[in-house]
Amino acid sequence: MDKHTVLVTGGAGFIGSHACVELLQAGFNVVVVDNLSNSKLESLKRVEQITGKTLQFYQADIRDKTALTDIFAKESIATVIHFAGLKAVGESCEQPLNYYHNNVYGTLVLLEAMSEANVKQLVFSSSATVYQPSETGQYSESLPLGAINPYGRSKVMVEDILRDVAAVDKIKPNGAPWKVALLRYFNPIGAHESGMIGEDPNGIPNNLMPYVSQVAIGNLKQLSVYGNDYATPDGTGIRDYIHVVDLVKGHIKAIEAIESDKFSGGGCKAYNLGTGKGYSVLDIVNTFEAVTGRKILYQFAPRRAGDLAECFANPALADKELNWIADKDLEDMIADTWNWQVKNPQGYVD
Ligand code: NAD
Ligand code: UFG
Repeated sequence: MDKHTVLVTGGAGFIGSHACVELLQAGFNVVVVDNLSNSKLESLKRVEQITGKTLQFYQADIRDKTALTDIFAKESIATVIHFAGLKAVGESCEQPLNYYHNNVYGTLVLLEAMSEANVKQLVFSSSATVYQPSETGQYSESLPLGAINPYGRSKVMVEDILRDVAAVDKIKPNGAPWKVALLRYFNPIGAHESGMIGEDPNGIPNNLMPYVSQVAIGNLKQLSVYGNDYATPDGTGIRDYIHVVDLVKGHIKAIEAIESDKFSGGGCKAYNLGTGKGYSVLDIVNTFEAVTGRKILYQFAPRRAGDLAECFANPALADKELNWIADKDLEDMIADTWNWQVKNPQGYVD
């Protein structure tokens, strides 16, 4: 494949930093734009240490059109992977305007800058939260969309915008068509096997795996398990956890697909990135204890508002069309999370 330059928005963040490693190792040139609102520059220094390669970093907000236009003028970008955005479901209910401004308006500005620079290949970070809750707990791409919180709705809105933008090419062809992959992530966890980059949430983590990991290292006292009365085998919530390195490999596969015959006429296609396997909160606690030898103190607490009993992917479409399947199992995910946590007990220190 012709290796070229990829602009990674939000590249200093959890998933973005792992994507930079995979891209550099696959021979791409990498340009990162990030406002560092939820990350530290140290993550990108570590990316360079892991790979022995350099990347170009711009500290800028994706809502700053002038900054983006300058980046597209200076760098010969072929493809954009768009991670930048806000991602906390609870916070999105308290600050909906901030979420729509960063995630929806930010993407509009990015798309305008891309369009003006004639860069029309995009891989977008979508989420399993775009789906309308389904009884079965398993989600295929053909199921109806219907997010239930502002964060999820911001992702649906961006998906809608991207479908509309790509559809214009069919009505009114104008040069190279838009080629867009919407990647709907399930629950990314784990860390690079070096333990040099990983998830570094601000303050007390909202998500299960970083919380469990911080209980294990002694930063937090005990885990609250939100609900033990769900209609699941052990009563706790079931999710499809996916190793972040598997997840970012899906992005490289998406770029390959975008550049192949599969996207020859352009278009916008959605793919689930998950393992297809579900694990309960207690499965996570028990496996964490078995892998690390640490005791995880927990108590049962009421259900968390907005949580589903069960959510796992049907990942068959990504296998068929992107030639991608997740490789790593839950033990790998936990071992790598723990390796990162032990080596960086306070996360990144700039
Ligand atoms: P993250 O917060 O670690 O990374 C996001 C990065 O974007 C951060 O470095 C942040 O500083 C940057 N950023 C935010 N707003 C920006 C702006 N306006 N301009 C420039 N930079 C900005 O989050 P992550 O877990 O790496 O998630 C990456 C993407 O994947 C997000 O779009 C998120 O919604 C999506 N996603 C994440 C999960 C998950 O569980 N982690 C699940 C589904 C989807
Ligand atoms: N949980 C606990 N205690 C905690 C944290 C979580 O019991 O302290 C439980 C939750 O109730 C849920 C499971 O652990 O059953 C997973 O919760 P997370 O908060 O880790 O993940 P979610 O499935 O709620 O959401 C995550 C991301 C979203 C993303 C979604 C789907 O936070 O941004 O996965 O991709 F959209």
